[in-house]
Amino acid sequence: MSEETQIQHSTTETPGSSQAVPAPPALEVKGISKAYTERRRVTSVLNNVSLKVEQQEFVSIVGPSGCGKSTLFHIIGGLEQPDAGTISMNGSLVTGQRGEISYMPQQPALFPWRTIEDNVLIAGEIKGVPQDQAREEARHWLAKVGLSGFERAYPHMLSGGMQQRAAFLRALLAPQELMLLDEPFSALDALTRSEMQRWLLELWEENRRSVLFITHNIEEALLLSNRIYVFSGRPGSVLHTVDIPFPRPRREEITDSPEFLLLKRQLSQWMREEQEKSATTKG
Ligand SMILES: Nc1ncnc2c1ncn2[C@@H]1O[C@H](COP(=O)(O)OP(=O)(O)OP(=O)(O)O)[C@@H](O)[C@H]1O
Ligand SMILES: [Mg+2]
Repeated sequence: MSEETQIQHSTTETPGSSQAVPAPPALEVKGISKAYTERRRVTSVLNNVSLKVEQQEFVSIVGPSGCGKSTLFHIIGGLEQPDAGTISMNGSLVTGQRGEISYMPQQPALFPWRTIEDNVLIAGEIKGVPQDQAREEARHWLAKVGLSGFERAYPHMLSGGMQQRAAFLRALLAPQELMLLDEPFSALDALTRSEMQRWLLELWEENRRSVLFITHNIEEALLLSNRIYVFSGRPGSVLHTVDIPFPRPRREEITDSPEFLLLKRQLSQWMREEQEKSATTKG
């Protein structure tokens, strides 16, 4: 069961020319491998991972816990060096370079000494937006994610889910075109999660950015993505590449369609198989 669905490559029109010129992908991960050595024990975490995010595409990664998804994000963001392979963005090699992406880590890393509003404002400060304008923008977005009234609170005064929403906003307002989101909604209750998904979907469809998204939630991945990469258990490698055919704009109603349910069943089965394999190797 390792048949891979074909990836469709996008092309864009260059202004003033009638020829379609393929734009380089927003992100290209090629042959990434990584192992950690601790007390002389070598753990292979990623094995020859290759994937792409075309310009303005929404791409998801699903895979068992511990298969190296967050490690891959650290490598893309230049926080870790790979043992093998390269990272390119917009056609340029950027392996090991920082500052190229907007990144929301799995643990919302808000600055504890800054208020929520000031945490979100960091994106504006980096962009060089005038203070007043940035503050107004931050308030507008905080209200959208249900954090009005908490602008002046400090991170420790917020619940885990509220911190996650603030960290998500900070990534969203950052100036980099490519956004990496590591399980941005994992700490939210089902209702808030579904609200945030709907909101992200609408926002992304209005104002497309290139997104690489990690989630354990298959329904979420199917609803949001153009393509899903299914990872194997550790060492993580790409097992399946699935193009998601639903037209845009997408609304939650598609989750009831037979096509959606079929894909959901297939992906869930792959995930279960990998989880079982991981459990037997560990046990
Ligand atoms: N800095 C590090 N030093 C040693 N081992 C590490 C380090 N970072 C990650 N690992 C190991 O690499 C493996 C993959 O971790 P990673 O956080 O990438 O998994 P993940 O797929 O994001 O899992 P989850 O879905 O639970 O978030 C784990 O076994 C982890 O212990
Ligand atoms: Mg992780």
